[in-house]
Amino acid sequence: MFKRLMGLFSNDLAIDLGTANTLVLIKGEGIAINEPSVVAIQYDKHGHENILAVGQEAKDMVGKTPGHIKAIRPMRDGVIADFEVTEMMIRYFIEKAHKRKSFFAPRVIICVPYGLTQVERRAVRDSAEKAGARYVHLIEEPMAAAIGAGIPVRDPNGNLVVDIGGGTTEIGVTSLGGLVISKSIRVAGDHIDQAIVDYVKKNFNLLIGERVAEELKIKIGTAIPLDEELKTTVKGRDQVEGSLASIEITSEHIRAAMKDSLEQIADALKDVLEQTPPDLAGDIVENGIVLTGGGALIRGLDKYLSDIVKLPVYIAEEPLLAVAKGTGKALDEIDLLQQITYED
Ligand SMILES: Nc1ncnc2c1ncn2[C@@H]1O[C@H](COP(=O)(O)OP(=O)(O)OP(=O)(O)O)[C@@H](O)[C@H]1O
Ligand SMILES: [Mg+2]
Repeated sequence: MFKRLMGLFSNDLAIDLGTANTLVLIKGEGIAINEPSVVAIQYDKHGHENILAVGQEAKDMVGKTPGHIKAIRPMRDGVIADFEVTEMMIRYFIEKAHKRKSFFAPRVIICVPYGLTQVERRAVRDSAEKAGARYVHLIEEPMAAAIGAGIPVRDPNGNLVVDIGGGTTEIGVTSLGGLVISKSIRVAGDHIDQAIVDYVKKNFNLLIGERVAEELKIKIGTAIPLDEELKTTVKGRDQVEGSLASIEITSEHIRAAMKDSLEQIADALKDVLEQTPPDLAGDIVENGIVLTGGGALIRGLDKYLSDIVKLPVYIAEEPLLAVAKGTGKALDEIDLLQQITYED
């Protein structure tokens, strides 16, 4: 009885712990936090670290910090690159979402990148517990993405979801509440941004940072030729002269820069389709493929993939929120939760 009462007042949380963005959803209220997974740390003269900023404020510092401040993305390529800072970030977000709410410890469900090792999952769980979570469930990203995209994952019907995040592209075929097949590659938004940095350096002798590359991708990036190609100017440092320079760059350039990464994503999708048992493949022909994650917003990516695999491809509604919404739904439906989460 007490436990039930506690559940009632405790404002349980669903967290999408992404390598690019972390979202926290409060049960019954909706999304409370949606911020970059970045932490700015200040080092004093004794080398002690202090959190200066977390989230958007910290991301705005990336590439612009003086020596004693570091803006860290603690999770990279779908793995935890810095355990300590990841823990700080999880605790910060949980405390921020939960602070004003209640006296009771919340139950927390966290969606983690698919490929995390057991040690990494343990670390995530521990940090949530240290932040005061009463009970911590973990859920895998392709499953959360599928639920968030509105796929009826418990039906005996095959559905295919492709979640293109910052660190990883995760592809999963769901049926009967489980992932029948899944594949994760470390080619997603960050990889594309880096490819743009390299392309601009090679073709224009211009050095730009990853933040500017990301802006170019979002502003003029496209997976397919456009009737009217886009263009913009970009500033950076001339590699030869060392001086500041600005150049004009077009969507055709960005498409060329992204080509390799997009091909790798298409290849992974083809792989999964080849491995899919015939009956489920039949379902997917019917249902089509659903794209989630920020990468789903790359112009023309649905058409690009559809042309390659010859199947209908749809973009989920609000793809950047799909995983958080799916995680939240799992929190709402305890029976669903028990079917699809895993314990270490
Ligand atoms: N309009 C857009 N066009 C292209 N890419 C975009 C757009 N908006 C966001 N992105 C990209 O989406 C990525 C972030 O997506 P998302 O928030 O789904 O990742 P994540 O969940 O944090 O990462 P992961 O799932 O790999 O852990 C970033 O690389 C970002 O540049
Ligand atoms: Mg994600």
